[in-house]
Amino acid sequence: MEKLLPFGLSLLLATSFFPQFPFLSHASSKNVYSRPSARRVIFTHHNGSKSEPQQVHISLAGRDHMRVTWITEDKHVDSRVEYGKQPGKYNAVATGEHTSYHYFFYSSGKIHHVKIGPLEAATTYYYRCGGYGPEFSFRTPPSAFPIEFAVVGDLGQTEWTKSTLEHVGSRDYDVFLLPGDLSYADSQQPLWDSFGRLVEPYASQRPWMVTEGNHEIEIFPIIYQEGFKAYNARWLMPYEESGSTSNLYYSFEVAGAHVIMLGSYTDFESDSDQYKWLVGDLGRIDRKKTPWVIVLLHAPWYNTNTAHQGEGESMRKAMEDLLYEARVDVVFAGHVHAYERFTRIYNNKADPCGPVYITIGDGGNREGLALTFKNPPSSLSLYREPSFGHGRLRILDEKRAHWSWQRNNDSDSVEADEVWLDSLGTSNACRGIVEGQEPSSSANDEL
Ligand SMILES: [Fe+2]
Repeated sequence: MEKLLPFGLSLLLATSFFPQFPFLSHASSKNVYSRPSARRVIFTHHNGSKSEPQQVHISLAGRDHMRVTWITEDKHVDSRVEYGKQPGKYNAVATGEHTSYHYFFYSSGKIHHVKIGPLEAATTYYYRCGGYGPEFSFRTPPSAFPIEFAVVGDLGQTEWTKSTLEHVGSRDYDVFLLPGDLSYADSQQPLWDSFGRLVEPYASQRPWMVTEGNHEIEIFPIIYQEGFKAYNARWLMPYEESGSTSNLYYSFEVAGAHVIMLGSYTDFESDSDQYKWLVGDLGRIDRKKTPWVIVLLHAPWYNTNTAHQGEGESMRKAMEDLLYEARVDVVFAGHVHAYERFTRIYNNKADPCGPVYITIGDGGNREGLALTFKNPPSSLSLYREPSFGHGRLRILDEKRAHWSWQRNNDSDSVEADEVWLDSLGTSNACRGIVEGQEPSSSANDEL
């Protein structure tokens, strides 16, 4: 599994071009900070036997269930997970499915997916994969508020990635959200394996919910025209559980939040399957049960960085009305390697009933930071900074949530931006629009 493609071919296969900018045109005056350059890619090896699990990660898989995913080089290992609430005592067992794939001369290991449950909320479970190797543990999310999400985009596998993950892991959270661009393998398949090993200490302990970015596409003309071969095999998300027909878009509910993962790199126009699925999914939301609605996608709809300008525009035009009318609270995007937080917006104007848009594509990948923002600044953009870091969305109750952005200051993590948010699901003013009344500016979050 370890052979890399020649560098020239991998460049040809790479699906994204990202310019490096020579200078900084904007930085917040209250956050003077010397920005570092990209750091080298780390290749993480497997040190166990061929039967031992590697690249273990978990994801939410429908009500009270978790999917455990891992890979073995030995194709004879069973897709079986033993688990229980005490270390070493497994009083439950579940069997699942497995897959594998080829990409040119690369053959993946056996990729196991096993759904376990029903599980109790806010409970630590101990588990073993395939009957071999070490014991892992995870904690299920709570059934009610408060709940905390860690949000990281464009992660990659560099020394900066490692630093970001250490910062994420240094403080407790319940669910990890990733709005696209995971491994930056760019068709060099062994880098998918390396990425899985790098994130295992985190992704085996908390559910990782991801959606695809451009670096997941890996299309090769004629031979691999569909794309997403590695991504779909390795990062199976609960699309069937949420009524979707594609792993590229799905939703899930946790505590009082309805989270929608959209696909920037599959069809999204009004006659597409994704659009129709989104209409149905939004229509099924019960704001009494899930007062908070959060959307993740890769290419931002609002962006004042010079990088990737306009790339999310056609998707915005196709889908923004749906999210606005459904009173989505927050839209997270990645793709631009910087942090930017906007006010509530609808159709390029500030609107108290529109979502807050946040770009968080600064996980630490090999391409480095998107250093240049457009000037003069837009009044819609409330905070923008090209630094590596991660975000935290802590939902306290049905009304209030706290968002913060944690910048990587070398080995430290510093809260550089924060804001309190009010749920639109409990806002009388915005619910009034749904009932035919005019909006008012009584939404009282700090925007
Ligand atoms: Fe991207």
